[in-house]
Amino acid sequence: MKREGANMADLSTIKDLLENEIKDLYSAEKQLLKAIPKMAKGANHPDLQKCFTDHLAETKEQVARLEEVAKLLEIKPTGKTCMGMEGVIKEGAEALEETGDEAVLDLGIIGAGTRVEHYEMAGYMTAIDLASQMKSTAVVELLQKSLGEEKAAEQKLRMIAGTLMKSTAAAA
Ligand SMILES: [Fe+2]
Repeated sequence: MKREGANMADLSTIKDLLENEIKDLYSAEKQLLKAIPKMAKGANHPDLQKCFTDHLAETKEQVARLEEVAKLLEIKPTGKTCMGMEGVIKEGAEALEETGDEAVLDLGIIGAGTRVEHYEMAGYMTAIDLASQMKSTAVVELLQKSLGEEKAAEQKLRMIAGTLMKSTAAAA
């Protein structure tokens, strides 16, 4: 069934849906290329700043990987706006504008960063399942690599949160 709207696609096959998911992920990652530097700048703790700048470098590779996936699928990765990521980034921008204790503010920024990672993980998991169903091994491998990086970034954020939590508990 065809429907109107810039973000709508005709989804009749698993491949159609995979293509749609890849475009969504591509839009999400491209949005993050702009958002992560702001999060790095807004973070107070040097470990948190580094976590974001490291993940920015990975995000650039993830964009390149999605372009490679698109090539394998013989599609263009552009043409869709990931509205979910737009919202998650908007919330993150709010966390950057708050004032208060530096460690507490960092914990808020980590909350925003964790939301970003989980949103991305959900997208990659979905795409991996679809590509596995299609037996597109090369696509699965590329997506798995990015999923691994998102999971590692989330773990790193949680670790920094643990450290900050101790320091604020001590200060309180
Ligand atoms: Fe990413």
